[in-house]
Amino acid sequence: MTAILAVDQGTSGTKALVHDGERTLSVVEVPVRPSYLDGGRVEVDPLDLLASVRQAGARALREAGDPPLAAVSLANQGESVLAWDPATGRPLSTVLVWQDSRAQEVCAGLGEHADLIRRRTGLVLDPYFSAPKMAWLRRHVTREGVVTTTDAWLVHQLTGAFVTDATTASRSLLLDLDEVAWDPELLSLFGLGDGALPRVVRCDEVVGGTSMFGPPEVPVAGLVVDQQAALVAERCLDPGRVKCTYGTGAFLLGATGGRAVRSGHGLTSSLAWSLRASTGYCLDGQVYTAGSAVRWLVDLGLLSAPGALDAEADGDSGGVCFVPGLAGLAQPWRNPEPCGAFTGLGLATTRGRLVRAVVEGLAAQVAALAQAMSADIGAPLTRLRVDGGLTRSRALMQAQADLLQVPVDVYPSPHATALGTAALARLALDEGLSLPSAIDAWSPAVSFEPVWTGDRAAEAMARWGEAARSAAARKDDT
Ligand code: G3P
Repeated sequence: MTAILAVDQGTSGTKALVHDGERTLSVVEVPVRPSYLDGGRVEVDPLDLLASVRQAGARALREAGDPPLAAVSLANQGESVLAWDPATGRPLSTVLVWQDSRAQEVCAGLGEHADLIRRRTGLVLDPYFSAPKMAWLRRHVTREGVVTTTDAWLVHQLTGAFVTDATTASRSLLLDLDEVAWDPELLSLFGLGDGALPRVVRCDEVVGGTSMFGPPEVPVAGLVVDQQAALVAERCLDPGRVKCTYGTGAFLLGATGGRAVRSGHGLTSSLAWSLRASTGYCLDGQVYTAGSAVRWLVDLGLLSAPGALDAEADGDSGGVCFVPGLAGLAQPWRNPEPCGAFTGLGLATTRGRLVRAVVEGLAAQVAALAQAMSADIGAPLTRLRVDGGLTRSRALMQAQADLLQVPVDVYPSPHATALGTAALARLALDEGLSLPSAIDAWSPAVSFEPVWTGDRAAEAMARWGEAARSAAARKDDT
């Protein structure tokens, strides 16, 4: 059987997985370390991203025994951008990572258009999304070349094509969400109307061929944002099905069917998939620092290693509350400036209690987003599907179930994103396949049932909500 090489180009690394349609033959991960700089700047060298794709892909193929390849697929970070020369493919800037908040100045200048932008795109005017950072690069770095999200550059390196998929475009603040087309008015508002734009393609489209990983040339297909790829892999296809991926950040996405829902509770809407046969939409809410909050604890010496959360977290936070705003807070709290906070510190606060507070703070922000999503969907959440590296922490998953008061089902593979993009590539190669039949069936590796009472959960959520509101308000004083 021919195989797919599925590449998940994420914030903290590139994962390459070879899947033969029945099983995963190999997985290789090459880390990438963004630079976290003052002023909320987060950058990475584009050549490091490209090198990590080359290395991870080549090694995964070697480890799989160099099977005949049917396609290469690619999931991308979504809202990270760079300037580059389309004639040579040479980068003209660093990558401004989605966590980078320097483009706040661009958003501030467009405040009067915030409502129009929200109605047209389903998103909010925030430097997290692509267009403000693209505009910042145009203002401060170069007017040469093109400015795009990282996927368009990587796909150009792979195939020579100049494309982006519709899910990635729907994270830009430049796409009319209902029409699935670039919006000239928004392009002009952001001062991006002059440059060439990548063609918007479906997720199940073959966009070209690549021999980056050796001959023969193979089709490239299955382009998608990483969060949407995980949504697909976890079979959150029907309206109301919700998943959370705990990666560098934590991202809660809920399918809303074939129509975009505008959130009344501070969430954002995007395309979940764009296929020959159907277009799907989702609501989403973001925690900008999850794995990177854990990494920060390690860098500060408060945790010995990212995998030590369970061993080193105290059983109780002793009243300490953590707000994961280290790269700003997303909607509905909304503070683009770094505004992370510990509250309730005392002389009895230990390292273990701080670690426990971080675990509970991450779970509380996801739970608050899930409450907002239930309100938008108009039905209570009954279970949450989860994936990503931090799902290995039993303490975090138990806190998630406790604070949400619903069971949490852990996806059985740590590679949901890569498996999602591989499924989309299969759809591109076989027109007869339907979306559900392209995705592997799965049952949870483990499920966590809530053990806290509803009262205890409500009290903890109220305390966290107060801390989050005060962290978000801090921008008003500066
Ligand atoms: O929106 C950014 C997000 O999609 C990045 O995902 O896995 O790199 O944390 P990840």
